[in-house]
Amino acid sequence: MAEHNPTSPSADTPDTTANSAAKAWSGRFSEPVSDLVKRYTASVFFDNRMAEQDIRGSIAHARMLARQGIIGEQDLADIERGMATIREEIARGEFVWNLDDEDVHLNIEKRLTALVGDAGKRLHTGRSRNDQVATDIRLWLRDAIDTILSLIGEFQSAVLDLAEHHADTPLPGFTHLQVAQPVTFGHHLMAYFEMTRRDAERFADCRKRVNRLPLGAAALAGTTFSIDREFVAEQLGFDEVCFNSLDAVSDRDFAIEFCAASALLLTHLSRLSEELILWMSPRVGFIDLADRFCTGSSIMPQKKNPDVPELVRGKTGRVNGSLIALLTLMKGQPLAYNKDNQEDKEPLFDTADTVIDTLRIYADMMGSRIDPDSGKRVFNVRVKADAMRSALRQGYATATDLADYLVKKGLPFRDAHEAVALAVRAAEKRGIDLPEFTLDELRAEMAGLPRAVPLLEADVASVLTVEGSLAARDHVGGTAPSRVRDAIAKARARLKSR
Ligand code: ARG
Repeated sequence: MAEHNPTSPSADTPDTTANSAAKAWSGRFSEPVSDLVKRYTASVFFDNRMAEQDIRGSIAHARMLARQGIIGEQDLADIERGMATIREEIARGEFVWNLDDEDVHLNIEKRLTALVGDAGKRLHTGRSRNDQVATDIRLWLRDAIDTILSLIGEFQSAVLDLAEHHADTPLPGFTHLQVAQPVTFGHHLMAYFEMTRRDAERFADCRKRVNRLPLGAAALAGTTFSIDREFVAEQLGFDEVCFNSLDAVSDRDFAIEFCAASALLLTHLSRLSEELILWMSPRVGFIDLADRFCTGSSIMPQKKNPDVPELVRGKTGRVNGSLIALLTLMKGQPLAYNKDNQEDKEPLFDTADTVIDTLRIYADMMGSRIDPDSGKRVFNVRVKADAMRSALRQGYATATDLADYLVKKGLPFRDAHEAVALAVRAAEKRGIDLPEFTLDELRAEMAGLPRAVPLLEADVASVLTVEGSLAARDHVGGTAPSRVRDAIAKARARLKSR
């Protein structure tokens, strides 16, 4: 980006022509700011990404001013023409962003004045950069939220396809990272669908509070001009106006909410990442990830590292950091606007960029394509169902089912728990899994709890199998494959209606 050479405005002869390097506010100052202060206080090189929102906001404001008779129709036409030129200059990469002009707002206003003269100087009537910047951020964030909501939908639809494909595939469910009970891989994945469903709700809810118009608050107290804020709100697609001028220019709670929703979303994706990483470790070997989400090692030729999930886990840290940055930025500020607020942008932009990139890459990583040769759907997450099943065999995953079986035959649960513990201990000693016991062996192992023994009958065999265990958890929210399919169907319908 090009920069103009700074020239120092003289206090005696403040240069107010359109092309000067004098600051918009330099009239009352007796010396120019140092280069360091200029650089320290400027935001143009990061807030210029709100240029389109700034132009949109300015045009809406100018239309309102003309409609109210505050500026002339010709002024409005000049402003619209000038803004169209500026849009083109920006699109072509020809717009010169100038550090001397501090921020995106002053840069655009100055260029407008250079292009159209007096009309450009009239644009700022009844407005302040304080309500202008708050409006720009809200417009920018609203677009970012819409993008995020649609990307969450893409991620979720990829998850649903994978879950459906594995609605019956058993894997160990873990607690404390110890094998607990069988679940299906589809059921496991649907947990992430639910998490991100709440994330989407949070973003959608946050959007309601983002979508209110600060413009009209001016610097802090409102303006003496007879403005029409509802008209501006309507043109810019805001649901309503901010009702208190001091609040409108000073609070950034909507940005904090956005960062909080982002931190939670990333936290969920970080948990999924941790699982993918763990599952992909050769020590676990539950899945393999398509090569394009992994990288090799420059020294160890055998390595295939799950870099993408690792980075998602890592980037969660920076998103959490941005949330803390904004909370801290806000907490000590007296009403109304303070320059501290200029520091809201980088964490906010970085958060949105990180969330958007993460969702894009995750939607792809959980996704699938039709293989042209076989005509079959190939998923980027390749499930090794045998490894999942053999892990289940090593953890006595159906022990609870055995206890439940005894309870259903009348044994109090605590006794059943004890009887099964005896069987597990024996199985461990013999290095076998529970279904490998014959009925007589099982009876013998439970002899220490005589009440249990006669309750064991031939039907116990089916209870001890993984399939039996899964099928028995047959209620809303349970892991029975039929229930998982129901959950997926409902989720699909919900996703479509969004
Ligand atoms: N660049 C400023 C910001 O991001 C715009 C508002 C500046 N207002 C002021 N009175 N200095 O917050």
